[in-house]
Amino acid sequence: MTDSPRQKILFIDDIPSFCEEVVSNLRSEQHDAQSMLSPLEAIPKIVRGEFDLVITTLVIAEMGGFEIIRRIRGAGCRVPIIIITAFGTDQSAIEAARLGVADYLTKPVEKNELIARVRRVLADHAPREPERPKSLARMISGDWQMGAIFEKVKTIAPSDTRVLILGETGSGKQLLAHAIHQQSRRSQEPFVEVNCAAIPANLLESELFGHEEGAFTGASKRRIGRFEAAGKGTIFLDEIGELSFELQSKLLHVLDSGKFTRVGGSNDMFSQARLVSATNRDLMKEVEAGRFRSDLYYRLNVISIELPPLRDRPGDIGILAQHFINQFAPEGQPPPTFTPSAVEAMRQYNWPGNVRELQNFAEQLAVLHQAPRIEATDLPARVLHGKPAPKAASQPAPSERLPFREARDQFEKDYLLKAIQEAGGNMAEGARLAGMDRGQFYRLAKRHGLTSNADE
Ligand SMILES: Nc1ncnc2c1ncn2[C@@H]1O[C@H](COP(=O)(O)OP(=O)(O)OP(=O)(O)O)[C@@H](O)[C@H]1O
Ligand SMILES: [Mg+2]
Repeated sequence: MTDSPRQKILFIDDIPSFCEEVVSNLRSEQHDAQSMLSPLEAIPKIVRGEFDLVITTLVIAEMGGFEIIRRIRGAGCRVPIIIITAFGTDQSAIEAARLGVADYLTKPVEKNELIARVRRVLADHAPREPERPKSLARMISGDWQMGAIFEKVKTIAPSDTRVLILGETGSGKQLLAHAIHQQSRRSQEPFVEVNCAAIPANLLESELFGHEEGAFTGASKRRIGRFEAAGKGTIFLDEIGELSFELQSKLLHVLDSGKFTRVGGSNDMFSQARLVSATNRDLMKEVEAGRFRSDLYYRLNVISIELPPLRDRPGDIGILAQHFINQFAPEGQPPPTFTPSAVEAMRQYNWPGNVRELQNFAEQLAVLHQAPRIEATDLPARVLHGKPAPKAASQPAPSERLPFREARDQFEKDYLLKAIQEAGGNMAEGARLAGMDRGQFYRLAKRHGLTSNADE
């Protein structure tokens, strides 16, 4: 058995007998090999990505091997290349290394030697297996950034640290808060959730801290608040950015002293609950604008977790779409599957409502779609022709032009993120793609919060 039987190998040389010999040696090991005598004919095919490995000699009448490699690399093609030469000099070895050649063989080339080197290079450059989806409580994901978040949650969940979850609407903040609770030592205790945006401001205080009988008109009975109900469990304050200034002060007091009082009461109550909060607002901006207390911000934000929007997690779109389709398929009916072209089309859409939007869309498809496969053309027009996902950081309109320093930071972060994504989360490879020193790349990525514990 060979390592990579279906990977295509091209050998370039202008001596037909040598071509035949090399190709037949490779084929005898079940490699899919062919040769071409003309570099000028070979280069366009290589650049189009038709081969997984190119082997070339250096001296060819039509065009020298180094020139071939320069043209291939100049066109942005990173196919691995092995050089075979009769005239191995230090100078050519240096040039080969400079051009990123994968291996360098001198003639005469033994069959076994050739096969061994080819196998090693193919194995080093084998396409990565798509990551198996990871899961955390009820969350699943095939995206490396989410994988890093799951790891972070496993590390911090057992402690009592407060966690602030940031992310666009529908990105999974609530599910993540619940996962933190489930992974913690408090998982047998209550998980109590308060949506600060859904409760009128004048009722929120009593909702959080409870009230005594007669505390205000309509308070006919004593009522236990959510902090009390949470006991030794977790209290999840969702949409914390909507909290009024007055309640921000009261919450700050609870966090500082651990004490609160029911509305209309005078007894101090002690809170032992762990606090997890979430918001889809940029809380730091709210602080700068004077709408959110900075002291409260820092107390909530002991650990923060930023959930990336779905459009920035291309690895998640196909996995989550299929997960939801499987979930919603009518009983007794095998769920339809998305074709690769449908997944690609979904990746082009920008999913403003994030995972919730994908979930609703999959639910509709599960009910309406009859055929076993879902093709790109089966997707609703909104998804097919909707706003494409931005490929690069979009230019701000002149009115919202950022100060240079901020714009540069933003660019740096987007650039590094793209490189890390392209490298499948491998920092060393990301550094290579960015043409940067590994240490420098890592430090910059760390400064922008793009590293995970696994990278340490
Ligand atoms: N990784 C995931 N795996 C499975 N289901 C998910 C995942 N992320 C989100 N969901 C589902 O998507 C929906 C939206 O998630 P959730 O309610 O946690 O988002 P949110 O960020 O709290 O949204 P909002 O800001 O609107 O409150 C939920 O039904 C949730 O179960
Ligand atoms: Mg929510």
